[in-house]
Amino acid sequence: MAETINQWAVITIILSGIALCVGVYLIRRGLREAHMRAMVTAVTLASIFLVLYLTRLALGYEKKYAGPEEWRLAYFVLLISHIILAAANLPLALGAVWNAWKGLKAAGNLGNIDAPAARGYFNKHRAWVRWTVPVWLYVAVTGWIIYLVLGRWGEVIKGG
Ligand code: HEM
Repeated sequence: MAETINQWAVITIILSGIALCVGVYLIRRGLREAHMRAMVTAVTLASIFLVLYLTRLALGYEKKYAGPEEWRLAYFVLLISHIILAAANLPLALGAVWNAWKGLKAAGNLGNIDAPAARGYFNKHRAWVRWTVPVWLYVAVTGWIIYLVLGRWGEVIKGG
């Protein structure tokens, strides 16, 4: 049961990371509507991941590192930085989406983002995403590394 939830959690968070990269690519090409859809998808998938992950924790499923001793410290540095930045990612993403949403409401539509009432929100959106995107990418990449390390050297200590 917990193993199945874990597999779905992995699938949703990988898809979320892909949607994030697609969304950044789309806005670089000026495709605002498609950017919005990709980012709403990324945030929705990340929220589903969070629910699955917390359910898995509640079921008591956990793995511990049982790999080579000389890599233990490096693994924990990676794990701790991942956890801290994953927690930071939530308010960062909320700040980014909140300002985009307020901007969209003020603009009326995404063709009108330079309207005076909307511009400030989108400037804030840009300021938030300057942190949100790198943090999110770091969390995604390190999460993937941790998953691979635990797949190879992890030991289930409870649940399963
Ligand atoms: C967490 C979710 C989101 C992330 C990470 C994100 C990321 C980005 C990035 C990287 C840029 C380019 C910034 C720059 O060029 O300096 C951008 C711009 C933009 N985003 Fe998002 N975005 C998100 C959600 C949204 C949503 C939900 C909307 C729709 C309401 C939206 C609308 C826009 C618009 C209109 C721009 C262009 C702003 C401008 O040219 O001033 N974004 N976003």
